[in-house]
Amino acid sequence: MDLFQLLSAELGPARVLRDELALERFAVDESGLPRFPPECAVLAESRAEIELVLRLAQEHRIAVTPRGAGTGMTGGALPVRGGIVLSTERMVRIREIDAENLIAVVEPGVTTGALQAEVEAAGLFYPPDPASLESCSLGGNVAENAGGPRAFKYGTTRDYVLGLEVVRMGGETLQLGRRTPKGVVGYDLVALMVGSEGTLAVATEIVLKLLPKPRAVATLLATFRDLLTAGAAVGTLVGRGHRPRALELLDRVTLEHLRGRTPYRFPDGAGAALLCELDGDPEGMEAQLLRCAESCEQSGAIEIQIAEDERRRRELWETRRRANPTLKALHRRKIPEDIVVPRAAIPEMLRRVDAVATQANLPCATYGHAGDGNLHINLLIDEPDSPELEARIERALDATMRATLELGGTLAGEHGVGLLKQRYLPWEQAPPVIQLQRQLKRLLDPEDLLNPGKIFP
Ligand code: LAC
Ligand code: ZN
Repeated sequence: MDLFQLLSAELGPARVLRDELALERFAVDESGLPRFPPECAVLAESRAEIELVLRLAQEHRIAVTPRGAGTGMTGGALPVRGGIVLSTERMVRIREIDAENLIAVVEPGVTTGALQAEVEAAGLFYPPDPASLESCSLGGNVAENAGGPRAFKYGTTRDYVLGLEVVRMGGETLQLGRRTPKGVVGYDLVALMVGSEGTLAVATEIVLKLLPKPRAVATLLATFRDLLTAGAAVGTLVGRGHRPRALELLDRVTLEHLRGRTPYRFPDGAGAALLCELDGDPEGMEAQLLRCAESCEQSGAIEIQIAEDERRRRELWETRRRANPTLKALHRRKIPEDIVVPRAAIPEMLRRVDAVATQANLPCATYGHAGDGNLHINLLIDEPDSPELEARIERALDATMRATLELGGTLAGEHGVGLLKQRYLPWEQAPPVIQLQRQLKRLLDPEDLLNPGKIFP
């Protein structure tokens, strides 16, 4: 019996997919990269099954690519060497919500939005909010250290993962971390796992820190004539001591794509928009929001809209969350970047992005988590493929990465390296640093079978 027949005998053929058509959805993610079909996909339902897959795959020397919901932006879940896709999409149990100790224990397939709804109903709060929160999974969030708009005030997934149960290649299970808010016993292996893009081990249980739910939220949208003015307004607002939970920037191209296709209607003629959301206690919230509005006005906003009720607020966020899928749907190809620059460098970075796109003669949509200096720069490609086009894209990406590093930034804020940014890893990190990471990988997975071909060039 080959490995796939063995797995099929153990788990039943309904959860060991071999059919080309059934495997199709495991060949893609949200990165826009080409298809990489696996030979087999296993829909695991328990830790024991994940142990089994990783033990047998090790014995048979077959590559395993773990996969959450497949919403990744850099190809992290794509099976570039074929083999098995190990999906956790059926592990959707919220095992525990401990309101007294502010902890949730979940299986990796739980969607971020499902956990949020559940904890919010109990008066609690799980802040990380990747744009795909209705469909992405917490296991995927852990693998990529997902962020989102609220990362500006609350941090990213890593800041909420207290403990992990993981299975490494070969089938050994490790209990990492803790259930308490503090703890300094041994190396922080949880922090190492979070953001390791499924290359070190597969999470089977996640212990998450929760917060009390903020009692009030207030949201405003400021529009500007141009992107540079909006970009400069970010620094001014934060410089005045405001700490919104989200501070999002959208450029004209992004606004034009969203207009008429999403629930919220951005004001006509807007050259850029800033979405600013505060949370906290209701007392003084309105005054605070007005001070943010005033700051935006003094920075050159031409119009300020305040979301007057919860419905409006939801529409606004739904519209913002549609930015990536809308841009992707309307173009033949979209190449997403996820750079971060120090906040003060945002206007300069925007200037350079504009110059790069103009020089490459490629349309470009920029939006993102401006409070964090995290910009999603998207090259939009409709011209037919040609070597000349590829060379132009590469030059534009290279120039964007170079500008980011020159300004003291980093090449990826929340989407990981995956396949899409491997080429640039050595631009940011020195050879001994990359070597050390390779050694860590080898320690956990000596034969390079778990999510091979990712992160390192
Ligand atoms: C966003 C995703 C793509 O912010 O990171 O829309
Ligand atoms: Zn984002």
